[in-house]
Amino acid sequence: MATENRIRSVAIIGAGAAGAAAAAAFKAEDYFEQIRVFERRGTAGGTWIYDPDPHVPSIRPGGLPADLDKPLEIPTTLPATTSPNQQERFVQTPIYDTLTTNVPAIAMSFSDSPFPYGPFVPHHVPRQYIENYFSKQRTDDFLSLNTTVEDVSLLSSPRSKGPQRWKLTLRKYDPSKLADVWWEEKFDAVILANGHYSIPWIPEVTGLAAYMEKFPGRVIHSKYYRSSRHFANKKAVIIGNSASGHDITTGLVSTAQLPVYQSRRSLGRWDGDEPLSGVQWKPIIKEFKLDGTIVFDDGTVFKVNGRPLWDYESNKLIKSYWHTFLQDFPRLAIVGIPRVLTFRSFEYQAVALARLFSGRNALSLPSLREQERWEKERDEKSKREHLKFHDIRWETGETMNWLDGFFQIAGLGRLTGEGRIPPAMTKDLIWAIENIKKYPEPGNQNNGKKAEADEWVVVNRSTKDLLHFI
Ligand SMILES: Cc1cc2nc3c(=O)[nH]c(=O)nc-3n(C[C@H](O)[C@H](O)[C@H](O)COP(=O)(O)OP(=O)(O)OC[C@H]3O[C@@H](n4cnc5c(N)ncnc54)[C@H](O)[C@@H]3O)c2cc1C
Ligand SMILES: NC(=O)c1ccc[n+]([C@@H]2O[C@H](COP(=O)([O-])OP(=O)(O)OC[C@H]3O[C@@H](n4cnc5c(N)ncnc54)[C@H](OP(=O)(O)O)[C@@H]3O)[C@@H](O)[C@H]2O)c1
Repeated sequence: MATENRIRSVAIIGAGAAGAAAAAAFKAEDYFEQIRVFERRGTAGGTWIYDPDPHVPSIRPGGLPADLDKPLEIPTTLPATTSPNQQERFVQTPIYDTLTTNVPAIAMSFSDSPFPYGPFVPHHVPRQYIENYFSKQRTDDFLSLNTTVEDVSLLSSPRSKGPQRWKLTLRKYDPSKLADVWWEEKFDAVILANGHYSIPWIPEVTGLAAYMEKFPGRVIHSKYYRSSRHFANKKAVIIGNSASGHDITTGLVSTAQLPVYQSRRSLGRWDGDEPLSGVQWKPIIKEFKLDGTIVFDDGTVFKVNGRPLWDYESNKLIKSYWHTFLQDFPRLAIVGIPRVLTFRSFEYQAVALARLFSGRNALSLPSLREQERWEKERDEKSKREHLKFHDIRWETGETMNWLDGFFQIAGLGRLTGEGRIPPAMTKDLIWAIENIKKYPEPGNQNNGKKAEADEWVVVNRSTKDLLHFI
């Protein structure tokens, strides 16, 4: 190579296993004047760095790396200092707690440096190994850590006859300035050793995007799986049966609800004639539905155990009855949702539920149809009267009617004394509520002395319900 065409400087992007091997090989030539390794993480190790608590970004099904990980805007003049980047860059790795290597050490390690033991090692071993390899090869001083290569541009035109040169745009967070520092460096040659497992791929499946939006966190990519403990007692479908799918399925068998479903598109390396005990094979998924169900290609349906309880848009319980019961979950109930008298109403709800769940209730809940009708009518009324679905008014008599509903359901205790009787709404209590405005303001209680009539506050009648402040 003519001297003027000689490659003198080389930039290596990435300090994973590939970057470690490249740095060692280039150094061994004893030929290059400058070798630099740019690594955006704080240490070498690449994929094998373990991030125990990853940030889980939202990932659009069908989104390709170029859409999901858009280039940052480069300052017009460099060097420059900008506020620290906030954009998701997918720098964290997919390593989970139980991951071990799946290639025997003799075949996975570099030829001049065996793994400390084998044949399969936990994930921290290759991480340490890669870091040590930089020191062992004395290539550690080539490393520029916490430095992201934001752009690689050809300096000359691809058609020009002269040797090509490259300009790298680099960004590094400077903790002393609490800012990102940007600069450029030029090299004769560049080695891309940046890996390819940083940006997760989620395929497009009918309904998946809307499903992920409606049920945030319910669908996660294996990149963000960390431990089977996070899925204890949950119903789970694992999509895929390659290395990650196999490992995660095997892990979940010991913690999740059985069977663990595994959706397979083709035969995997680990698949025998039968699934592992505790696993049920399923074909690919053809649709994700907004009621939470998942439809497989063979028409079978995966029903999720559960659904959101609260509709934040209309600010109400979903499928409720009497502000307490859930139409589709007869063994689940909520005490304390409506805006109404507090403790005393809780007591009514609690007594009615206790009697109902012990089978000692005087009155059954109405039929599902009746419950649905109640919800629909209340919904319409709330909209018509611009009221909140779960606000129960005192002055219209609604509170008494509502409490009476529990009174009817609960009935009396047993002759032998078990069970509580719904408390009476005594005249004194009703008087206290109806004359609430005559009490001294809370916090102004005259040192605990009984308020005298001349201390009573006379307030104009407002259009708001007497108990609206609860
Ligand atoms: C979960 C999992 C398990 C695996 N298990 C095995 C196994 O058991 N055996 C096996 O042989 N292989 C396994 N692999 C494959 C693994 O990817 C390789 O072993 C190897 O680690 C890849 O090394 P790499 O250097 O090419 O990429 P990486 O390890 O990904 O390293 C690339 C480096 O480049 C850095 N980088 C990227 N972009 C930039 C940028 N713009 N600027 C600066 N730095 C940048 C990254 O931060 C990263 O450190 C596994 C992969 C995964 C995902
Ligand atoms: N050391 C370890 O133990 C370990 C653990 C995890 C990962 N890894 C490594 O990490 C890398 C990535 O592995 P990976 O398993 O995460 O990914 P992968 O090998 O790309 O496998 C993706 C899997 O998803 C399946 N799939 C894709 N779309 C599907 C759909 N719509 N329905 C059902 N299945 C679908 C694929 O099926 P098809 O086969 O039909 O395409 C395949 O089984 C590999 O290098 C692997 O060796 C290693």
